[in-house]
Order: sequence, then C-alpha cells, then structure tokens
Amino acid sequence: MSKPFERLPTHSKPVNYNLTLTPNLNDFTFKGEQVITVQVIEPTKTLVLNSAEIEIQSAKFNDASAEISFNTEEETVKFSFPSELPVGEGKLSMSFTGILNDRMKGFYRSKYTDSDGNEIRCAVTQFEPTDARRSLPCWDEPELKATFDVTLVVDKNLTAVSNMLEVSRTEVADGLVAVKFDRTPIMSTYLLAYVVGKFDYVEGRDADFIKMRVFTPIGKKDQGLFALEVAKKTLPFYRKFFNVAYPLPKLDLIAIPDFAAGAMENWGLVTYRETALLVDADNSSAATKEWVALVVGHELAHQWFGNLVTMKWWTDLWLNEGFASWIEYLCVDHCYPEFDIWTRFVQSDLSRALELDALENSHPIQVEVGNPSEIDEIFDAISYSKGASVIRMLHEWLGQDAFREGLTRYLKQNKFANASTENLWEALADASGQPVQFVMEGWTKQMGYPVISVASKPAEGDDSKLELTITQEKFQLGGANKSDLLWRVPIQVLTATGHKHQLMLAEKSDSFTVPKAAWVKLNPGCIGVYRVDYSASMLQDLIAALKHGQLSQRDRFNLENDLFALAAAGRVPIVQVLQLADAYKAEQFYTVWSDLLSNLGSVQVLADHLGLLDKWRAFLRQLCEPAYQRLGWDARPADGHDATLLRSVLIGCLGRAGHESVLAEAKAKFAKHCSGECPITPDLRACVYSTVLANGGVEEFEAVLKLLEKTDMQEEKVRILRCLGRARAPELRQRVLELAVSDKVRLQDTVFVIGGACHSLEARRAAWQFVKSRWSWFVEKFAGQFLLSRLVQLLCNDFCTAEDADDVDAFFKANPAPSAERNIKQALENTRLNVAILARDGDSVKEFLAQFAA
Ligand code: BES
Ligand code: ZN
Repeated sequence: MSKPFERLPTHSKPVNYNLTLTPNLNDFTFKGEQVITVQVIEPTKTLVLNSAEIEIQSAKFNDASAEISFNTEEETVKFSFPSELPVGEGKLSMSFTGILNDRMKGFYRSKYTDSDGNEIRCAVTQFEPTDARRSLPCWDEPELKATFDVTLVVDKNLTAVSNMLEVSRTEVADGLVAVKFDRTPIMSTYLLAYVVGKFDYVEGRDADFIKMRVFTPIGKKDQGLFALEVAKKTLPFYRKFFNVAYPLPKLDLIAIPDFAAGAMENWGLVTYRETALLVDADNSSAATKEWVALVVGHELAHQWFGNLVTMKWWTDLWLNEGFASWIEYLCVDHCYPEFDIWTRFVQSDLSRALELDALENSHPIQVEVGNPSEIDEIFDAISYSKGASVIRMLHEWLGQDAFREGLTRYLKQNKFANASTENLWEALADASGQPVQFVMEGWTKQMGYPVISVASKPAEGDDSKLELTITQEKFQLGGANKSDLLWRVPIQVLTATGHKHQLMLAEKSDSFTVPKAAWVKLNPGCIGVYRVDYSASMLQDLIAALKHGQLSQRDRFNLENDLFALAAAGRVPIVQVLQLADAYKAEQFYTVWSDLLSNLGSVQVLADHLGLLDKWRAFLRQLCEPAYQRLGWDARPADGHDATLLRSVLIGCLGRAGHESVLAEAKAKFAKHCSGECPITPDLRACVYSTVLANGGVEEFEAVLKLLEKTDMQEEKVRILRCLGRARAPELRQRVLELAVSDKVRLQDTVFVIGGACHSLEARRAAWQFVKSRWSWFVEKFAGQFLLSRLVQLLCNDFCTAEDADDVDAFFKANPAPSAERNIKQALENTRLNVAILARDGDSVKEFLAQFAA
C-alpha cells in the first residue's frame, strides 16, 4: 500500500534559514522570501528540499539561477544548476507563494467570532511531523537542524508571535509592519512556529526570570491565568529535574481556535486547543484543570526532551512522546499533589497501552517508518502510553537518582543535536551501572508484553515460607498464535505483611520464596508492563483482601483491570469478573470506579447484542447505588478533588441506566440550569446533559442545543457535543450526525460528536452508515490527518458480528485510508474478538443477568 519513499540526499544541509513571510488574511494566501545558508558537503549540481503545495517563483544559489522541478509524490523540489556547486557554504535564495489552507496543517487559517460578533481571522502553523514543507521549502527531517531568522510582515494591529522574542518592528507600507524575531537556536524544522491574529494575553515570569505569556482569543485572557500558573511552576521544575537551563529567553502558550491535535510543543511558542489551555473560574470542571496541567506539563517537557535533544528519525518518535507522557505526571504530581495524578496514569496510559498492545495488529515501540502517512500512524497509544509505561517501569527499576542523573547526561551529551533510543539507554546505563539496553530492548523492539502466571505452595521444609512459581508468555487476546517471545521483566511482589520482594524474570519461568502471608500480590502499585494470572487460590485470597480493604487504590484497580483482560482473552469466564464487581461496591475512589465502569462498558456491548440492555442497566443500578448513596449530589466541605470526579461518574452511570431518583434530580437541576435560576456545577454538567438526553425526547434535545448556541466557551461546547448522541430517538441521532458535519462544529470536534453517537449497537451502525454515505466529505476534510484514524477507532472498534466486520473490511478495501490502515486492522481484530467472546461467554452472561429485574 505504502508508496516508496526516499530520504533527502545527503550532499547538502541547511545552516540557517532567513525567512520572511507575508500572510494575507483577506484572501488566505501568503508570500515568502528566504535566503538559506547551505552547507554543500559533496560537489553536486542539484539541491533537493521538501516542498508541498507551494509555488516557487525563482531560486538561485549565490549568483546561479536554478531550474526548478517538483516531485509531488515525494513532496520535494529539485533545484538544478548549470555547473557544480562548490563544497562549502553558499546562499540559496528564493521567492514563493502559498495558500493558508483550511486543513489544520502547515501554514493554515483559523477563525473565531469575538464577543461583538466580528469574525477574527488568524494564520497559524502546525508542522509536526512533516508539514513545515507546506509553509517554506526546507530540509524537513528532524536531523537536519538549522537556525531560523523569522520575519513576519503583517497588519500593524495584529499580534504576531514566533519561537523567539521580537527584536524589531519596521513599518514597510501603509499599515504593514515587518516584525523581526531573534535567531532561534539550532533546531528541527517541525518545531518552527508563527501565529498571526488578534489575541489577548496574560504574562509573568518564572523563578528563573523566563518571560512567559499565555495568549487567548480576545476577551478570554482571564481563562489563561491557570495555565500561566502551571507553566510558572512547571518550567523551574524541569530545569531542576534535568539540571539543564531552559534554553530560550521566553515561553509563549497560545490557544488556537482550530487545532487538530491537543497541543504542539513548538520551541518557545507552544500551541494548544482552547480546551487544553483555557480554564474558566465558573465554567471549567475539575477534570479540565487536570487536563490543562497535564498538557502544559507534557509540552513543556518537550522543550528539553524533543526540542533540545531530538530523535534522529521518526522511528524513535516514542522517545519524545513516551517520555513526555511519563514526565507530565511527575511534574503535575509535584505541582498539584492533591490530584493524585499517578493513579490516573494507570488508567489513562498503562491500561490503554496494555489494551492496544494485546492485539496482533499492534506494533513495536521502535518501528520503521518512511512516508508521511506511516509517520502519522505512530502518534498512537503505543508511542505515547506504552512508551510512558515502559519509562515508568524503568524509572522504578533504576531508582529516581540514577534515572535522573542518566537523563542529565543524555541531555548534556546530545543538546542541540539528535539522539536514538540506544543513546538514552547508554546514558542511563552509565549513570546506574545497570544493563539498561539488555533489559529494555525487548520492551521497545518487540511488540506486546507478557502475562505472568503465578502459583504458590508451602516452601519445602520451611512452613514459614511460600514458594512462588512464575511463568511468562506473550499476552494475546486472540490466543491462537502461540508466541515464544520473552521479556526481561522487573517484578515486584507484595505480601499481606508488607514484605516487598524484587526480582528480574529473565527466563520463561522462575521460582522464589517469600514469607508466608494471607495474600501475595504481584505488581504492587501497578508499575510493571504486564498482566498477572493468579492461581485460583491466590486470586481468592486477593479478593478477600480487597473486600477487607487491604489493597491500595492502584492495586484494586490492577486486580479488576487484569481480570477483565484475562476474561477478554478467554483465560477467565466473563461471569467471574461480573461477579467480582460486587466486591467493588465499597470502592470510594474515582479511578477505580471509572475503570471498572469503562471495562463493564465493553461487556455492555455484548449485552446489547444479546438484547439484554434492560437487565444490564438494572445490574449497573444495583452496583453503583451504594456508592451514590454515600456521595449524593451536593459537594460537601470535606470533598477533595477525587470525590468531585467520582460523583460525576456515578451519577452519569446511574442516570444513563435510568435510576429513578437520579433521573428526577437531573431533570430538576437541568430545568433550573436552562432557566438561569441555578447553574449546574461544571463537574456535573456532562452527566446531567447525558441523563436528560438519554431519558428524554425532542424537548430536552432542543433545550441542550440552545445551551450549545448560547456558550462561547469551547469546553462547554465540546461537553455538549459529546453528550448529544445520547438521545435515543433515531431521528434525533440523525440530527446529531448531520450537525457533526455542519459548519456549526469545528472540524477538530467532528470526531467527538460522531463518537458520542455510538452508545448502542443500533446507534453505532447508524453512525457507520452515515459516515460511509458521506465518505467523500470525510476524505476531503481529513485526508492525511490522524483525525481520520481516530474516527475509525471510535466508530468501528466495538462491533460484534462477523457481518459488521465484513462490511467494514469491504468498505475500506474499496476506499483505502492510508493513515488509518493500522487502525482499520485493529478495529477488525477487535470485532472478531467480540464475536469469539460472544460464542464463548454469551450464554453465561445471559444467565448471570437473569437475576436482575429490568
Ligand atoms: N507533539 C505532539 C503534537 C502532535 C500530535 C503533532 C500528533 C503531530 C501529530 C504533542 O506533544 C502532543 O503529544 N500532544 C498531545 C497532547 C498530550 C498532552 C498527550 C495531543 O495532541 O494529543
Ligand atoms: Zn508530545
């Protein structure tokens, strides 16, 4: 499928780009002039650069004019000269023109409406991974670093920002100024950025006197204050942690109305979706604050890990993304300990990674990639979440001090340059004295991870001890293809008496002894990247410990999370896990509940297929009832952050499951919210909206749409858009789907709206039919975007019949989607796994549910 792809020739490389861009916000075009200082390495008559969707009017090298030819497939331009260019430095100058496109990549347009109803137009960049070439002809590969001198020629009333501080501003024509920015350090093209438009900002300085600003759309600057506070805490944290100074004099964070990803770490000018940066004192939820802190923590970590030291090639993308996805938690934990954010990690990252990586259509962390669509594909849960989980395991194994010392070495050795995974392993090995590469390469070069089976018996000749036998094999949901892959697994074991045992499982199996105890748990704290399959008696002991409140929060999470996966793989009957849920009725914490309910969500798909949704809802109601009774609707003075989050999950679940009194209260609160009499706290809005929609009709639907029209806050809009699809009437759901592709929804949010309309099999099939019928629209808007693969994921992952799988398969055979290829395979695999689970467990699930009166 993939087109052949060639890296740029190595006979030349850039040293400095002196770039002047003149964006025109009236007709959405731009003009460019640049002089690139080029190092000619070997004599050559041609220079080949990346360039896409740009017209080049003229080019010359020193005084020699170039003949220009484009290769659209390869996204390159070739400059050919009459005679050989001499080895050494020369100047490649050119003028070019382009279009500010509407596809959220390269140099693109974005619009918003201010509070007076005026349309404000902006020009914005998003270059990672391979779109700098849409704004300037350049050597668009991470290893071809250079310095950049940027000048933007803009209307003098507009804000113009770039990676560096403004150094001069000269009037060039009527109302136009040339804003010149300081030279950047040597860096990769994908980190270059500039934004032009109308923005407000708040500013401050961190403890190291770095100048910081948070830019927001006009009128929203107060919503930037929280992010500014986070950034002011975060930057000094990283400076100390890495023991390397922040290399730039300033850092700007800016909220962009149209933005495909969540955020982008451009050096010194980090761009964000509004929902990942803005916090409103009255209208933002606790979950949003958490998210903003994590995203800021993530992007600021890249300022060192990614920007100062960059991966040599995209194969090592995980170094950037896995690392940042780990350290964002370390940073938020330091700045906001009340979030207990590491507990969130096990659900948001570790569990996501283990889920995806159990598929045959997963991929190793380090993966060969060539062309842009292959590169796009690996911005996924393997690079991010498995990468982060593997780093967390390594950090635990080496210990904080050695780990940190190794990182500092790695950054200092490779600063302003590029590095590979192996370079990181070497630095960490030097600092720790441990065989880091030997242990880690199995985790990054092999796909998948092990399941550890464990059994215990009294140790021979010493009845004060237990002998544990552990065995590893690759964990596979399908289970069919036996694999003989092995990992070197750092394993921790905790016993009821608090004894902690550590070992490195390097072989297929091993045994060791621990002091005898009422229970023994592997993977305490849920730090290892593996699943555990306990012998029946060990599991019984652990369930007893759970019921007696003897397991920590992450261990309670770990137990149910592993058991669901073992059930999905056919190693444990599903009914056993449904029964286990009972033991969680006393659970008090958000993450455990949230994960349990989301795992039950995948069983709900099966119940739906079996026509047992009413009984299923009754099962959920009795499960959540006691916890809901403890917590109630109203915030209590003693409530912390966790209780706030928990309340919304429980109420949401009960409301959708038709719990009478929750429903009545939700309706009452909704009415007062709509009339303005008493606004619902932001934390409970999503669960109230979805409850009234799921149990209401057209009247409630219209009322929610009104709220959508009324708000100018992206967080609130997205909250509503995600809920709309809960409406049960098919004609309302059809309106939701139409809305998703209308100009009332920003392209970046379309996927949420459609995903929100997939809450039952019937709704999912309708959404899938809709997307198929509008496929050309999706291709036009999302071609070559990772948003397309997100769409496939949301739509097609939870089907559960062979006919559905065949339909999806046939559709994508006829309509290939290169950047979503792997996601399509994963969705098909998931569907076929669901078919197998139904065949295996369908009858017993039916029997289990019979006890619940609908
Ligand atoms: N480098 C990425 C942005 C990115 C994502 C560029 C996909 C190109 C394609 C950035 O650092 C990032 O990881 N952003 C995340 C948010 C983060 C908190 C996980 C995102 O956009 O989802
Ligand atoms: Zn990132």
